[in-house]
Amino acid sequence: MNLQGLKLGVLITKKTFRKLENQTVPHRINSLANAGKQIDINLYFFSIIELDIKSKSITGLYWSDKDNLWLKNDFPLPDILYLRSTPGKMYKGKFSKLIKEINIKKGLIINYPAFDKIDVFKKLNTVELAQKYLPDTTPFKSFNTLKIMLTKYTCVYLKASQGRKGQQVMRIKRDCNCGFEYSYYLQSKINAKGKIIKRKADSFGQLRLPISNFFKNNSVLIQKGIELLEFDGSPIDLRAELQRTKYGKVKITGISVRVGKVNSPITTHFKAYEFGAFFKNKLNYSQQRIEHLKTKIYRFLFIIYYCLEYHYGEYGEIGIDFAVDHNDKIWFIESNSQSTKVSLERSHNKETYSKSYIDLLEYAVNKYEKHNEQQI
Ligand SMILES: Nc1ncnc2c1ncn2[C@@H]1O[C@H](COP(=O)(O)OP(=O)(O)O)[C@@H](O)[C@H]1O
Ligand SMILES: [Mg+2]
Repeated sequence: MNLQGLKLGVLITKKTFRKLENQTVPHRINSLANAGKQIDINLYFFSIIELDIKSKSITGLYWSDKDNLWLKNDFPLPDILYLRSTPGKMYKGKFSKLIKEINIKKGLIINYPAFDKIDVFKKLNTVELAQKYLPDTTPFKSFNTLKIMLTKYTCVYLKASQGRKGQQVMRIKRDCNCGFEYSYYLQSKINAKGKIIKRKADSFGQLRLPISNFFKNNSVLIQKGIELLEFDGSPIDLRAELQRTKYGKVKITGISVRVGKVNSPITTHFKAYEFGAFFKNKLNYSQQRIEHLKTKIYRFLFIIYYCLEYHYGEYGEIGIDFAVDHNDKIWFIESNSQSTKVSLERSHNKETYSKSYIDLLEYAVNKYEKHNEQQI
């Protein structure tokens, strides 16, 4: 296949773009660039700032083997767009225009739109097959909604619809003295480290201010706290990476177990293991139980993937967060259209991780070509 003319643009954050400009390459960008090299497709990276929508051009960065450097060049709008970031509110209009222009030129966007947690639950709830995996979830309309949920459940989660990396997640637990404990993860502004904040509220009224300060004007959902499995006092949930391969088939690239810090409300940012090995060696599940669980998990993952596609259109990849409880029941937590595949990278071998990018790019190129053949 001659891919010489075809351009795949990767939208990254301003921060990552500056790093590339300074020849400091985040290793996940490197993996993607390597995959591009292997299948011989022109990849370029840009942030929303480098897009000139009037002239329909982008000053992007690409890896030059010849110069052994990341170099700048002016590129046309991409034929295929891969989103590693969704620009913030300030660039909402510009981003919409980019999406529109790519659609006009019959381009392909492989992981769009980004999922909104409230909307996803609403949509999945309309599909009977998916309903049994959904923990009771409701939009935060008023503090009264929260009061009702806290009467129903001893533990609930509040989550911003657009949050990421556990940064917009708060757990609230009822205690036996009519009070509450709320906790959340606070990301450091200086480095990648963060800490868990845990506080008491003596009454429901005392929850109001911390909640308002934490979520500001964002839209938020309230969800029943799932009883997560634990390992040595740490909470456990799972992350599956699903993606389409060269000829469009959906495959499960890997399932990782994420183990959070002791008492943490979230499992993210700590350790990850391969699913089968963890349940066998750490949780001592029998091989038979693991196989049975695996069958149920596979069914669940494909149902969620296809339901999401039914509502939002085709995706090249989706990361799915879920939990398994003590009764081997499976619970959907959320879906990610721009997965950084951190857990996959931590828990699987290098080949699996690198191949996931090659598969994704091959899928994109094939789909683009097929799509454009049909246009002729
Ligand atoms: N309903 C819930 N019950 C128990 N744990 C939850 C629940 N919702 C979220 N969590 C924990 O918080 C983490 C982050 O929540 P998630 O919905 O995945 O948001 P984010 O977009 O920030 O990753 C999850 O991986 C899980 O560990
Ligand atoms: Mg998540």
